[in-house]
Amino acid sequence: MDLGIVGKRAIVTGGSRGIGRATARQFLLEGARVLICARDAAVAQIARDELATESKGEVHAVQADMSREGDIRLVVDTAVAKLGGVDILVNNAGTMYSGRFAALNDDALKLQLETKLFGFMRAIRLVYPMMREQKWGRIVNLIGGAGKEPDPYMFGSGMTNSALLNLTKSLSAEFGESNVLVNAVCPGWVDTNLWKKNAEGLRAELGAQSQEDARRLAAKKNSLNRFGKPEELANAIVFLCSERASYITGVSLNLDGGRLKSLW
Ligand SMILES: NC(=O)c1ccc[n+]([C@@H]2O[C@H](COP(=O)([O-])OP(=O)(O)OC[C@H]3O[C@@H](n4cnc5c(N)ncnc54)[C@H](OP(=O)(O)O)[C@@H]3O)[C@@H](O)[C@H]2O)c1
Repeated sequence: MDLGIVGKRAIVTGGSRGIGRATARQFLLEGARVLICARDAAVAQIARDELATESKGEVHAVQADMSREGDIRLVVDTAVAKLGGVDILVNNAGTMYSGRFAALNDDALKLQLETKLFGFMRAIRLVYPMMREQKWGRIVNLIGGAGKEPDPYMFGSGMTNSALLNLTKSLSAEFGESNVLVNAVCPGWVDTNLWKKNAEGLRAELGAQSQEDARRLAAKKNSLNRFGKPEELANAIVFLCSERASYITGVSLNLDGGRLKSLW
């Protein structure tokens, strides 16, 4: 299937590794022009160079912390300077805030909200006027299953994620007239650095003997009985940003191997 995005200009926040990097790669292979960002400039630069070599496409990297308003502006301004505008925004940069209520740390939760809720919203605020003007735009927000099905261990992420689901649906209604489509994906467990960082916490939460056992127990909750691969997420994200997804807006697609068992 030709996705119809050759030459489209895409920002993938947090594209230096994991799901963001796989998404940037897939955009490049489809002929889109891409800008990635991350806090670690060296890792972002290496990712940029490797992505450029693999795809022979145009890709730029910017150092930015998406919890900071000034850095978000820098990302969008650089995209405008290097790519000439923005057609696609994938709001991906972020971490996971795990732990039960008793362990809730207000500062950590504020950072989670600043990065994902405010970070995503501020990036949208900057790119939407361009998308409205050109009557074409795609925005995909990386959220997470705990926004739909509350999980005591994912309390902090869950609150952020529910707000992001609301933001996605609300903006899809407001931006529809301008042909700017706003969708979300909700990953389950995906095999990235983020899982490794959470492995010990999840082991304790599940009462597992080892991190590998925790991984097996977590995966068992999925119908597919395994973790996802970053490229499996990327395929769906890039499709939602494509011309072929022209009648899809306001959805939140579960990319979790069947972990959530409810009807949405
Ligand atoms: N993996 C999962 O199981 C899972 C499940 C549910 C939801 N998600 C969501 O999916 C998204 C991607 O996760 P992932 O698993 O691919 O994570 P990852 O492998 O840790 O990659 C995260 C990427 O985002 C960047 N990043 C993190 N915080 C940032 C910030 N404040 N400003 C700019 N860049 C930042 C990282 O680079 P730097 O560290 O250098 O900044 C990196 O490039 C996240 O929003 C996460 O919440 C993932």
